[in-house]
Amino acid sequence: AIDKRVDDLLKQMTLEEKVGQLNQYTGEWSSATGPITKDGDKQNQIRTGQIGSMLNVKGVAHTRQCQEMAMQSRLKIPLLFGQDVIHGYKTTFPIPLAEAASWDLDAIELGARIAAVEAAASGIHWTFAPMVDIGRDPRWGRVMEGAGEDPYLGSLIAKARVKGFQGEKLGDITSVMACAKHFAAYGAAVGGRDYNSVDMSERMLWEVYLPPFKAALDAGAATFMNSFNDLNGIPATGSVFLQRDILKGLWGFKGFVVSDWGSIGEMKQHGFVKDGKDAALAAIVAGSDMDMESRCYKNNLADLVKEKKVDIALVDDAVRRILYKKFEMGLFEDPYKYSDVKRQEAAMNNPEHTKAAREIGAKSIVLLKNENNVLPLSKETKTIAFIGPLVKEYRQNLGFWSVELDEVDYDKFIVSQWDGLQNKVGKTSKLLYAKGCEIEGEDKSGFAEAVSIANQADVVILSIGERRDMSGEAKSRSDISLPGVQEELVKAIQATGKPVVVLINAGRPLVFNWTADNVPAILYTWWLGSEAGNSIADVLFGDVNPSAKLPVTFPRSVGQIPIYHSYFNTGRPAKNENDLNYVSAYIDLPNSPKFPFGYGLSYTTFGYSDLKLSKKQISKGETIEVTARITNTGKYAGEEVVQLYLRDKVGSVVRPVKELKGFEKIKLNAGESKVVTFVIDNEKLSFYNQKLEFDSEAGEFDLMIGSSAEDIRLKSEFELL
Ligand code: IFM
Repeated sequence: AIDKRVDDLLKQMTLEEKVGQLNQYTGEWSSATGPITKDGDKQNQIRTGQIGSMLNVKGVAHTRQCQEMAMQSRLKIPLLFGQDVIHGYKTTFPIPLAEAASWDLDAIELGARIAAVEAAASGIHWTFAPMVDIGRDPRWGRVMEGAGEDPYLGSLIAKARVKGFQGEKLGDITSVMACAKHFAAYGAAVGGRDYNSVDMSERMLWEVYLPPFKAALDAGAATFMNSFNDLNGIPATGSVFLQRDILKGLWGFKGFVVSDWGSIGEMKQHGFVKDGKDAALAAIVAGSDMDMESRCYKNNLADLVKEKKVDIALVDDAVRRILYKKFEMGLFEDPYKYSDVKRQEAAMNNPEHTKAAREIGAKSIVLLKNENNVLPLSKETKTIAFIGPLVKEYRQNLGFWSVELDEVDYDKFIVSQWDGLQNKVGKTSKLLYAKGCEIEGEDKSGFAEAVSIANQADVVILSIGERRDMSGEAKSRSDISLPGVQEELVKAIQATGKPVVVLINAGRPLVFNWTADNVPAILYTWWLGSEAGNSIADVLFGDVNPSAKLPVTFPRSVGQIPIYHSYFNTGRPAKNENDLNYVSAYIDLPNSPKFPFGYGLSYTTFGYSDLKLSKKQISKGETIEVTARITNTGKYAGEEVVQLYLRDKVGSVVRPVKELKGFEKIKLNAGESKVVTFVIDNEKLSFYNQKLEFDSEAGEFDLMIGSSAEDIRLKSEFELL
């Protein structure tokens, strides 16, 4: 039925109105800077049907204002309002990389659901999320926005996020359209420098970088965004191969593709087209449906059609895809459907949302080290010194890509780390504070005060890391060590001999070797969102037992990048860390990471036993059931992420030393044990062969079950006949 409505509408549209639907503009970045519609030209363009979508127009009042203008246009086609709702709307959840560390798909879906409920109540129809780019280079600032390095984990998380944003179905009042981005391979920018070129084998593309996109599509993602980078010499925005052949062809994607900001016009700077007109031609031919902010479509597409350089069928197809979504969202029935003041108020002040943010925050914290069981801290601790440049910060905890709502007083809404500690033990412990130093700069004048309060305390907590805008878009770093003099502050505090717990706040894996080697307890807290302080206090004092695992490998040094668990063995693998005998190794550094993929401790310990395989030999199409018993061998109830890795020993193309093929997050009381079950099917055994066909090959496989990629506890083998 929608198809017919789209066709009927399309027949009534002029060429200019069609092009208008493909045109997306930004509103004001913040409504605090003035009325969203102050740009008279844009107002006029909305009223005359020259704009199909707006981004960065937030809140019921402003979206309604714009929509009213669209309703004055000849055909009354409603606008779509898009926004980067990346990890929460008002209630802010951990940055996506942190959430990925929870390996908790239900929690991740819930985070996206709540973000959608709040955004949809505030006039937003569409989020530019999830970012499903694989990130294997922590220099790249946007590693914070994805799910890490692994295509299997990344695919499941992509699916959870799409489901969360879109809910049961598009058109429901709390559903926002998801946008799988950035298609494709944006995460593999050379040198980790944002927007840089990507040079990649097709096999790597299919095997590592495309699966999360396919998973997002299978989960029903309504839209895709293409990417700024060129892939093997062709800008993704102008890539027929990516958008027409793979996405809309092979995968049969029925939604629409939006360009990234200005990326159609930027094909000129790439040296791929000579001007904006050429850019519009290349983009529409390649299948970019909506032009975000470059104005190339608006200024050139109608002429290109009139000059017969662009077939109107291409324009119609793009318009059809966009109109279809507007119908599906129910906007023709009620263009103000998402603009309801009461609903907005209720959604923004929901204690369930706050509770979820606190819980997901705690689930995202990775316990990297806990010598002598320094953690959990006792709630009876007499004096606690809380030191560091991030202790009393509010907004910093939101991380990059948080939505800035100016109607909200964020500093009252966010729980700082200091507030979290006060909430937890403010009445029972004496709490001392010193800043110690800034995040950046050389000033050590605050060290003396910090050391002095450390000397008065029974335990010291140090909160250090990056500024929140040191990761994110256009925030690549060539040096990913702790900025400024923070590690020197750690040394000064550690020298007091007091038990020290370090909290590391960051949007990427950092290098902090001295801290890692010398401080007894380290929690990697990333950026946890609006409830950060409470989430951190819950973990520090054992109300929540940490259960997160790194979704990305932490290097010892920038020189090891890219580093990831599913590497190839090479013809000359090192026998051990000291083997330098013409093997593939560094002479100045071990090959192994500082902290491996899948790693994260708990306050309890887990035993792995009783590995059983239902069969040791299977024919193609048969499955193996794998079971293992996991026992909580420690004193606290806790959760463990049990990880299944496979290695295909011999292939017609070389295979990684291990690949994640399954995981199960289980909760066990002290002393309790449970059997986890994995099913190995043909898909888990398949890979892209020499002809780039996804298939399995007969041969032997290693099976490994463990607590991280480097902590393998159970091993077996099987054979595919
Ligand atoms: O959605 C983003 C994209 O990820 C990067 N460039 C800007 C877009 C809109 O804000």
